[in-house]
Amino acid sequence: MKRIFLFVLAICGVYSAQAIKIIHGPYLQAVGETEATIVWITDVEAMSWVELAPADGTHFYQNEHPRFYETYLGKRVIGRLHKVKITGLEPGKKYRYAVASKEVIATKHHHIHFGNVAATNVFRKGANYISTLNPSKDSFGFTVLNDIHSKQERLEALLNCYEKGRTDMVFYNGDMVTVVPDEKTLFEGFVDASVRRFAKDVPFYLVRGNHETRGLFATSYLNYFPTLTNKPYFTLKHGDVFFIVLDGGEDKPDNHLEYYETACYDEYRKQEAEWLKKVVESEECKSAKYRIVLMHMPPIGGKHMWHGPKHAGECFFPILNEANIAVMLSAHTHRYSYHAPLDGTDAKFPILVNSNKCALKAYVNGEGIKIEVIDEAGAVQHTHSFK
Ligand SMILES: [Fe+2]
Repeated sequence: MKRIFLFVLAICGVYSAQAIKIIHGPYLQAVGETEATIVWITDVEAMSWVELAPADGTHFYQNEHPRFYETYLGKRVIGRLHKVKITGLEPGKKYRYAVASKEVIATKHHHIHFGNVAATNVFRKGANYISTLNPSKDSFGFTVLNDIHSKQERLEALLNCYEKGRTDMVFYNGDMVTVVPDEKTLFEGFVDASVRRFAKDVPFYLVRGNHETRGLFATSYLNYFPTLTNKPYFTLKHGDVFFIVLDGGEDKPDNHLEYYETACYDEYRKQEAEWLKKVVESEECKSAKYRIVLMHMPPIGGKHMWHGPKHAGECFFPILNEANIAVMLSAHTHRYSYHAPLDGTDAKFPILVNSNKCALKAYVNGEGIKIEVIDEAGAVQHTHSFK
C-alpha cells in the first residue's frame, strides 16, 4: 500500500524516490567573536536553515531553537550551496548547532513545491559546536598546513597535529589545491577530509595561495570560504594574538601568458595595502600582545624573487615594519626556511616558511608563541619561539 502511495506521489511530482542528501559539510567558516558561517552542499536544490542552541548540557530536543537562514535581497536563498551566517553571538562562548535542507521538488511561476528534509542526525550523532573567538582567552593552540595540492595521504598525516580541545583553529596557508576548475576539486582536495577530522566543530581559515587563484571556478572562492571582511584578506583576534591574513595574489607578472590576460594583482595588492594601513592603526591591532601575519608567498630571495612576492613585500612590508609583528608565517616554496629580521629580507620581523611536508603546531600563552615544525611521522623537525 505504501509503495502504491509513493508511486502516485512520484508520478504527481511531489515525491522523489531518492531523498535529498547533504553531500559535503557542514563546515565552519568566518568564525569571529560574535558571528560564524556554516557551509554545506546538498545534492539537489533546497532551502536551508541552521538551528542554534546553547551548549548548556540540556538535551537538544528539550526546546525549539531559533532558526537562521541565508537571505539575499529580502528572500531566503534556494540552491545547492548553503552558507548561513549567524550573528549576535557572544565572544568566547560555545554553542550547539544543527543544519537542515528542505528540497525543492518543482517550481512553476511563483509556486514552490517542497519535499523531504535532510538534516544533521542529532539523535544518533549529536549536535555540532561553534566556539566563538575569545580575546580574553589565556592560552590556545593553532595549526598551519600549506601546499597540500590535494595530496590526501599527506593531508591526513599532517592533520594529526590537530588536537581536539587544544587546537582552536586550523590555518590552511594556501595551495591546498593546484587549480580550481570546479566545486568537486575543492571538496576532494581538502574540504571533505577537514570535515571528517575537525571542521564541523572547529574552523579552518583559508589563506589564499597563488594556486587558489587559478581556474574558471576560482572566482567562486568566497562562496565556499566566506570571511569576516568578505575579502580573501582579513583579521582575527583570539587570546593574545591579532592575526593578519594577507592575500599575495599570483606569483608571476600580471601579463604572463599563463594568466590569459585575466590577472590584475598589482592593483589588487595596492588596494589591500590601503586596507592594511587601517588595520595596523586599529586599537584592536595595537592593543594585542602579539601580532602574527599569514601570507602564502614569502617575499624572500633577493634577486631571485618572482614578481608576485616581490611586489607583495613592496606593498606590505613598509606597513608591517611599523606594526611590531611577532612573525610572518609563509609557505609556497615547498621548503622549510627561517629568516631573522632584515637577514636577507626587507622585513623587520622574522619570517618562518613551512614546507609542503610539515605542519606548524603552535601554542600561545602569556609567555610567548611556541611553534613546532612537525613532519608526516609526527617528529619535531624545528622549534621556534616568538614574542
Ligand atoms: Fe604557491
